[in-house]
Amino acid sequence: MSEKRRAVAIDGPSGAGKSTLARAVAKALGFRYVDTGAIYRTVGCAAKRRGLDPADANAIEALLGELKVEMTYDAEGLQHMLLNGEDVTGEIRLPEISLYASRVSAIPAVRAFLLEMQREMARRYDVIMDGRDIGTVVLPQADVKIFLTASPEDRARRRYLELQERGTPQDYDQLLAETRERDYNDSHRSSSPLRPAADAVLLDTTGNTFAQSCALLRQTIEERLDV
Ligand code: DC
Repeated sequence: MSEKRRAVAIDGPSGAGKSTLARAVAKALGFRYVDTGAIYRTVGCAAKRRGLDPADANAIEALLGELKVEMTYDAEGLQHMLLNGEDVTGEIRLPEISLYASRVSAIPAVRAFLLEMQREMARRYDVIMDGRDIGTVVLPQADVKIFLTASPEDRARRRYLELQERGTPQDYDQLLAETRERDYNDSHRSSSPLRPAADAVLLDTTGNTFAQSCALLRQTIEERLDV
């Protein structure tokens, strides 16, 4: 495969709408959408199932030796996560997995374990990949880098509405506190902290409708990719 693949890296804090927006724009452009948070969630899910403390680096490192984490795509192009052959795509979305994912993602061995899998996707396909360190660490040569963000209040409010719609409502103040806690964890860890790449375009979606953010993201990518 000699043809050069194109890559769009989207980083930003949780709840900024990265995955919904990236998925929609990837579909419109015919790119593969790669949700890297899902792979950290899969490791978090494995830790929870074993009853491990997700902050215990030694225990988590030992666990990695027993894990097979795979990413597959179904006929509709939706990403599925397999944990030792079992489809855990639904389970990793449970709210309690979020903090497990955040904790295990701070462990350097976990990041190293998952790095090659992410790069391999970009070698094989034109990708829009979202995460926290895609533009800075995983794909530093990406054709377009975007840092997508919104205020913590806006992000907590979106999450509140999403959970309400799903029939699993949660208290807004608690969601806001969790959003802030995850922001802090993700941007203060020593291994690949969340930060914009020096050459990233900053997009702030605070107050935008989904359609407005989607148009903004698509335009930002198209202008730079020449698609
Ligand atoms: O995007 P998300 O909420 O599904 O991500 C789950 C956790 O994984 C989040 O706490 C940050 C972490 N993560 C990361 O450290 N690096 C990535 N590239 C993607 C996610």
